[in-house]
Formats: sequence, C-alpha cells, structure tokens
Amino acid sequence: MIFYFSGTGNSRWAAQTLAESLGDSAKSILEGKAPDLTGEARVGLVFPIYAWGVPEPMLDFVKTLPKTDGFTFGLCTCGADAGHAMKKLSKIFHLDSSYSLVMPNNYVVGSELDSPEEVRGKLAAAKKSLDTIAGEISRRERVYRVKEGKLAFLKSNFINKGFNGFARSTKPFSVTDRCVGCGQCAALCPTKTITMADGKPRWGDKCYQCLACINRCPQRAIEYGEETKVRGRYTIEQYL
Ligand SMILES: Cc1cc2nc3c(=O)[nH]c(=O)nc-3n(C[C@H](O)[C@H](O)[C@H](O)COP(=O)(O)O)c2cc1C
Ligand code: SF4
Ligand code: SF4
Repeated sequence: MIFYFSGTGNSRWAAQTLAESLGDSAKSILEGKAPDLTGEARVGLVFPIYAWGVPEPMLDFVKTLPKTDGFTFGLCTCGADAGHAMKKLSKIFHLDSSYSLVMPNNYVVGSELDSPEEVRGKLAAAKKSLDTIAGEISRRERVYRVKEGKLAFLKSNFINKGFNGFARSTKPFSVTDRCVGCGQCAALCPTKTITMADGKPRWGDKCYQCLACINRCPQRAIEYGEETKVRGRYTIEQYL
C-alpha cells in the first residue's frame, strides 16, 4: 500500500504512477483512519517537501502507523531539494529506502513558478526516475537517493521550524471579484479551515500551506499578499 498526501497533485501522481508499476494501490492519508498493515508486502509514503521538512499531516499519519514486516519506503516530491527531511522521517518510521523526486514547484507564495517548458521537462525526467525507483522497490533494494541540497541541516532544522512557527498564517489570503462562489476551495482544503460565507471563502486558522486553494481555484480568484497577483498558478492536471 502506498499512502500519499498532496496539495497540487505532484505527490498523488507519483504515488499512483508507482502503484501502477508495482501492481499496488495508492491511498490518500486523508481518507479514513489509521490502516491495518497486516499482510502488506510494502508500505510507501509519498508527500511534498515543505521548507525542507515533512508536512504536518504526513508526520501525524506516520505516528499512527503500526509496525510492519513489509518493505518500507518514502518518496518526497520537491521543486529543488529536500534537505534532511527523509533522514528525520526515518527516525519516526523506519524506511528501508528513501527517495526525492524533483517535480514542478507549486510554492507560488514564495517565488514565481516554473515555466511550462520547465514543468514539462521536470515531469518527463520524473517519469523516468519513477520507472527506475519502481524497479528498485520491486527488488526490495535498499536505496537512499535524496537530493539534500546545500546547508541541509540548517534548512531542515532552523528554517523548517521558522516555517512551521510563522509562515503558515492564513491572514494574507484574500479573494478577488473573480470568485464565483463555487466552493471548490472549501471542499478541497485538507484542514477544512475554509468556509463559505455570503458566497465567498473565509479562512480560519489551521493551514498546512499546501497551497491547493490558491493554485486550484478555477477562477484564479485567490491571492496571498501582493506578490501572487503577478505570478502563475500550478496544478499537475494542467499538464497530464
Ligand atoms: C509550503 C511549501 C514549501 C515548500 N518547500 C519546498 C522546499 O523546501 N524545497 C523544495 O524543493 N520544494 C519546496 N516546495 C515545492 C513542493 O515541495 C513541490 O512543488 C511538490 O512537488 C508539491 O507537491 P504536491 O503537488 O503533491 O502538493 C514547497 C511547496 C510548498 C507549498
Ligand atoms: S474556488 Fe475560487 S471561485 Fe470557487 S469559491 Fe473558492 S475562490 Fe471562489
Ligand atoms: S487554507 Fe489553502 S493552503 Fe491552507 S490547508 Fe487549506 S487549502 Fe491548503
């Protein structure tokens, strides 16, 4: 079984692509309660990197997992590099193998996104990497292939703490006149912090910064501060 968390689809696609190659199933961690792993030949965890760390919902999920005799692996998707996220995760849940997969960047809050050419290039390279990874997993080879990047310790400890402490505010979210009140942002928010009031979304406090709301709004009606007004939006579905 391969469990995934995903904001804009990269990690879901990676999990489903691996599951297809391995003849396994991919399941969102937001579906239901902690699973029974009895008889599972393998357990995989697939998720995006947030500030060189593992997203809070994946950390919470992993803490509920029972011990397993199956082959275990983790695969993070990231725009560039993952720091020590996989090493830190494997201290909570034993991982036989760890991988990072460079995918299109969805962090529109922090910088401009990849160009369409860059996105296509990254997706083609990722598909090839997943073929290799599926082969290694099916042979139960133990592999650590993670692009950690520079200053990995610093980023995965101090900067990640700063992100979780200060950068997950919902206060900068706003909605423009383009909003048609479809309610999609509220429906897909994994923390259910978005509610609809008078036909417009309102943000509560609990936010993972998955950026599904801002990237997935079909009207491009959500902003985060000023900078996102001049930036693109990303979801993998635009490219599949
Ligand atoms: C809050 C946040 C922080 C991010 N931090 C990093 C990072 O530290 N390093 C990196 O390479 N990519 C980073 N990214 C980019 C994502 O990890 C990457 O685009 C990922 O594939 C998105 O996966 P998803 O589509 O499954 O949500 C960040 C994205 C978000 C939303
Ligand atoms: S998804 Fe976009 S258009 Fe739909 S309610 Fe949310 S902000 Fe408005
Ligand atoms: S408010 Fe937006 S960014 Fe925050 S958890 Fe919900 S969908 Fe993700």
